[in-house]
Amino acid sequence: MKILFAFFLLFFIASPSLCSQLVNHKILLDGSNHFNVLNYGAKGDGQTDDSNAFLRAWQDVCSTRQSNPILLIPNGKRFLLQPVSFRGPCKSSRVNVVLQGTISAPKSIEEWDWTKGDVGKSWIQFWHINGLVINGGGTVDGQGAPWWNKFHDQTDLTRPTALRFSNCDNLNVATLTHINSPKNHISITSCHGVRISHLHINAPEESPNTDGFDISSSSNILIYRSTISTGDDCIAINSGSNFINITDVYCGPGHGISVGSLGKGGDFAMVEEILVKNCTFRGTTNGARIKTWVGGRGYARKITFEDIKLYKVSHPVIIDQQYDALLSSTNDAVKISDVTYRKIRGTSNDNDAIELNCASIGCTNIVFENIYIIGVDRETTSSSCRNVEGTSSYCNPKIPCLS
Ligand SMILES: *[C@@H]1O[C@H](CO)[C@@H](O)[C@H](O)[C@H]1NC(C)=O
Ligand SMILES: *[C@@H]1O[C@H](CO)[C@@H](O)[C@H](O)[C@H]1NC(C)=O
Repeated sequence: MKILFAFFLLFFIASPSLCSQLVNHKILLDGSNHFNVLNYGAKGDGQTDDSNAFLRAWQDVCSTRQSNPILLIPNGKRFLLQPVSFRGPCKSSRVNVVLQGTISAPKSIEEWDWTKGDVGKSWIQFWHINGLVINGGGTVDGQGAPWWNKFHDQTDLTRPTALRFSNCDNLNVATLTHINSPKNHISITSCHGVRISHLHINAPEESPNTDGFDISSSSNILIYRSTISTGDDCIAINSGSNFINITDVYCGPGHGISVGSLGKGGDFAMVEEILVKNCTFRGTTNGARIKTWVGGRGYARKITFEDIKLYKVSHPVIIDQQYDALLSSTNDAVKISDVTYRKIRGTSNDNDAIELNCASIGCTNIVFENIYIIGVDRETTSSSCRNVEGTSSYCNPKIPCLS
């Protein structure tokens, strides 16, 4: 005990700044690495703006010399947050956010205050943080309803993404519930090495553009064991993304899991090494989709959809390389190749269960194996294709244009 006391004494004499930091924020002198937002003045009453308290707590978490610090957002409370940006880089190589309670956006559009955030773009942003770990079983409530309503009569309104991760390498997000974002729920941009699991994302089927995840310019991402029910894509994989695995994901309602859209406005797009495995689509407008714009450039390749279960899906398998063909007269297109569909089973709402609509440059090495898709009332289904080269085996419906 004496030795321990002497150690602490020495420690505090040696580091006065850490000492005053600990005393200021009533952190126990037991070496605890918890930074509880309540100790920074957060009220958690659902009414008071707790943004500044969160940012002050973050400042300490991010700058502490302790390893593995935790920003704690406790259970049983509802914290109102304005748009905020949690910024790194941080001192510790691993930084935790334990969200046990609920964080909520303002209830009406007029109440949003953009002075501390990423103006007009996102509600909560994590920027440039290495080794960020977020979990805790809590809820993120984007209060999207007023934005969706306004959007319907005012299309130019810029609605924010609820949660944005930018330049966060070695990111780990688990066990959160995410509801009612004004626009897409979680956006992942320029992040490398990401694991996401046990998330529930929920918004009404009619809510506009409420994608579950949007991924771009990122690599080595694993999303697994998650449930996504929204009004748009469950997951959209956009340009600059590679080595993305999506496994054990339930999607529905929603627009399916989509590569793209890519190449809008003549952009050069690159997507490769995508694996979507053991996923279920229920009542979605699409299942496995690849969508590229006419006039785009670049490629989407090495994409596999495997072990997919379908229940009343409108367009179970769709490649559209001519998205918005009416708008353009160019022959440019994003090259689509090396796409495999394996063990895809279930029911289609539409007669045309497999639609492969490629531009004149063609889609190459498109492979179907072990496909069994029938109508909802057991009727037969059909396929359609244009400019596709590849093979199929054990495939119902038959795809006559493939060898
Ligand atoms: C994705 O799956 C492949 C094949 O199972 C595996 O080799 C790879 O390591 C996985 N990548 C990630 C990021 O989980
Ligand atoms: C497929 O996903 C379901 C739902 O998450 C899971 O229960 C099951 O264990 C997974 N199957 C395999 C073979 O991983």
